[in-house]
Amino acid sequence: MTEPSAPILLFDSGVGGLSVLAELRKVLPQAPVIYAADNAGLPYGSKTEAQIAARVAGLLGRMTERYRPRLACIACNTASTIALGMVREVLELPIVGTVPAIKPAAALTRSGTIGLLGTEATIRQGYVDRLEAEFAVGKRLLRYGAPELVAAAEARLRGEPVDPAVFSRAAAGLRDQPDGQAIDTIVLACTHFPLVEAELGEAFGPEVRFIHGAEGIARRIVHLTEGQPFARTEPDFALFTRDGADVAALAPTLARFGLERIEIL
Ligand code: DGL
Repeated sequence: MTEPSAPILLFDSGVGGLSVLAELRKVLPQAPVIYAADNAGLPYGSKTEAQIAARVAGLLGRMTERYRPRLACIACNTASTIALGMVREVLELPIVGTVPAIKPAAALTRSGTIGLLGTEATIRQGYVDRLEAEFAVGKRLLRYGAPELVAAAEARLRGEPVDPAVFSRAAAGLRDQPDGQAIDTIVLACTHFPLVEAELGEAFGPEVRFIHGAEGIARRIVHLTEGQPFARTEPDFALFTRDGADVAALAPTLARFGLERIEIL
């Protein structure tokens, strides 16, 4: 029997998973949530596969032991495409991952050319090759690693200014590839990127449509927790792996997402 106060744990390297939390709040407002950010390890996108797998498995192990969540969601494409299988093997609770939304993008594109924006680590994963081979047969998938967008989303949510050139550089990274002008659908394959979707929309122009997985992940969590009781016995909170000014600066944004307090692991 699931404890009614057992939380759902959302995990990311930084603020990206808040794009998933926003969708989860719409469909499961009554669910207690712990939002965990490995800010000591941010950014994951420039780390090696071994570094990411070790961090994610180790931290999720500690967090599940301490907070006993009913379910954990790796709200991070980089961590999921690298470590999802391994984490599922070692932890005994349902784990929901975040994988690039190539399947819906392939169903929507009219030009047959899809762009994929992710971290440098995500775009080189075999996981992405397999999604492409399975769901984008006969289409062209152009990939671009845009670490600057992670930093831009982090800055925006802290209320810091962001140079708009960051978004035009990301657009050029896809548009300037052979066939790049034909892109009509873009997979936001990093949970940070929907947080700057409006700015990306301006950089790419109105004829492009963006797809990401947040809504689908929220629906999956609803499905996996169907019939379970929920009771919030304390305010939801955010958990960070390192304290500092970067954490304090996020407090107003976290409060907007219903995360009323901050803890350090
Ligand atoms: N939010 C993460 C993702 O979905 C990664 C950002 C990073 O740490 O580089 O890929």
